[in-house]
Amino acid sequence: MIDREGLDAVAGAAKVIDFYWADPDTELVAAAHAGGSLASWQVGSVDEAKAAVDAGCDLVIAQGTEAGGHVRGRVSLLPLLSDVLDAVDVPVLAAGGIGTARALAAVLAAGADGARIGTRFAAATESGAHPIYKDELVKAGAADAVLSDAFSVDCPLCPSRHGVLRSALAAAHGFDGDVVGEVQMGGRVATVRRFAGMPAPASATGHIEAMCMYAGQSVAGVHAIRPAAEIINELVSGAQSL
Ligand SMILES: Cc1cc2nc3c(=O)[nH]c(=O)nc-3n(C[C@H](O)[C@H](O)[C@H](O)COP(=O)(O)O)c2cc1C
Repeated sequence: MIDREGLDAVAGAAKVIDFYWADPDTELVAAAHAGGSLASWQVGSVDEAKAAVDAGCDLVIAQGTEAGGHVRGRVSLLPLLSDVLDAVDVPVLAAGGIGTARALAAVLAAGADGARIGTRFAAATESGAHPIYKDELVKAGAADAVLSDAFSVDCPLCPSRHGVLRSALAAAHGFDGDVVGEVQMGGRVATVRRFAGMPAPASATGHIEAMCMYAGQSVAGVHAIRPAAEIINELVSGAQSL
C-alpha cells in the first residue's frame, strides 16, 4: 500500500527513500528520483533484487529470514546476500540477524556495502518502544525470536510472517479477551486489539506483555538499553577491529 502523496512530499527532503512490501515499481522509483532522492528497495529474494534494479533503484537491501518485523522472503541472510551480490551491480545492504560487531564484520567481509539493523535499535534509548518491550528485548536470546503470522489484526501488510518475541506471542495466546489495551495516536486514544500488528509503543497502557514485540535473532546482541550512537560505535569499531 503506497501513500503516493506522502511519497511526493518526502521526495527530495530525504536522501534515500526505501520501499518494502510491494513489487518493485518503476513509477515509484521515478517519483523518488524526480524529487532528488535515491531509491532503495528491501527485498527477500534474488528475483526481487533484480526487479528492483530493473525498476531503477540505486541500491537494494537483502533481508534474510532472521530479521525482526515483517519478513519478505524464505531464505536466511548469508545465502540470500551471496546470491544478490552476484546478481546485481548496485550497492547491496544486508539485513536480518545483525546485532553484533561479529555479524556486521561477517556481512561486510561477504561483500555487503553496509547493513540495515532494526532490532538493536528497537531497544535504543531513543526508540519509541514501550519500556516493557525494551526490557523483554534485553532479556531475550536468539532462540526467543520466532517467525509467526499471528500478529495480523489491524495490520495493512498482513497476513504475513514476522519475527517477534516468543514471550509476546505466548502472552497474546494466553490472554482472554479481544482488547489488550490502548495507545495515544495523534491526540486520540485508540484500542489495541489482541494480535494487533502494531508493536507496543511507549504510550501504550494495559497488557503490554501481550502486545506485538517485533524482534529478530539479532536480539541476542541486546544486553542493555543504550543510546543509538553508542550502539553504532560498538558495532562499527568492533567490526573494524575484527
Ligand atoms: C520493531 C521493528 C519494526 C520494523 N518496521 C519496519 C517498517 O516499518 N518498514 C520496513 O521496511 N521494515 C521494518 N522492519 C524490518 C527492518 O527493515 C529490517 O529488515 C530488520 O529489522 C532487520 O533485521 P534485524 O531486526 O535482525 O536487525 C522493522 C523491524 C523491527 C525490529
